[in-house]
Amino acid sequence: MTSEALQRFIDQANSRSCQQPDPADCVLALAPLMLDLIDQASSFLEPQHYRSSPETYSRNLIYSAPDQSLSLYSIVWLPGQWTPVHDHGSWGVVGVVEGVLEERSYVRLSPDRGVDEDIELARGGTILLRHGAVTSFVPNPDHIHITGVPEDRPRAVSLHLYGRTMNDFNIYDVAAGTRRRIRVAHNES
Ligand SMILES: [Fe+2]
Repeated sequence: MTSEALQRFIDQANSRSCQQPDPADCVLALAPLMLDLIDQASSFLEPQHYRSSPETYSRNLIYSAPDQSLSLYSIVWLPGQWTPVHDHGSWGVVGVVEGVLEERSYVRLSPDRGVDEDIELARGGTILLRHGAVTSFVPNPDHIHITGVPEDRPRAVSLHLYGRTMNDFNIYDVAAGTRRRIRVAHNES
C-alpha cells in the first residue's frame, strides 16, 4: 500500500519533472521534495525496502512510472559494499535515510565523443552524507562516481530518484580507460 506521503511525493515529482525540461532545473525543483520525503520515510518504508544481501548492495524498487520517466529505489549498503565506477544517463536526486553514504567522484579529463575507449578519468573529491542529507546530479557530461559504505561504518539506507527506469548504466575501467553498459538488478516492490 502506498502511503499518503509517498503518493504526494510521486505526484509532485511527476509534475515538477514534466515542467522542467532542463535536468539542472529539474533537480533544483526536486531536491526539496526529497528533503521532506526523508522525514516521512518511516511512514512508507516497509521491511521489503530494507532487504540486503551479503553479496552486494541491494536496490529495492519503490516506484516506477508506467512511462519509465521516473523511478524511486531504496538502496541498502552493508559495510564494505560499493558500486563500480559508473554514470547514470539521467538526472538523479539522492537522500540518506540511515547511516553515512559516501560518494567518491571522478572527473572526466578527455572529451566525451560517445565512444567507449580512450576515457581519461581523474579521482575527485569525497562527500559524506549523513541521515537527512540530499545530493543530486545531472547528465551531459554525466556524473561519474562510486558510492558505498567503508568496512568500518554501519549499514546505510538511501532513497534514489532518477529521471528514467534505472535498469542499466555505464561502468568504467579507470586504468584501461574504457566503459561498458551493464544491466543492474533490483528487487521488485
Ligand atoms: Fe550513482
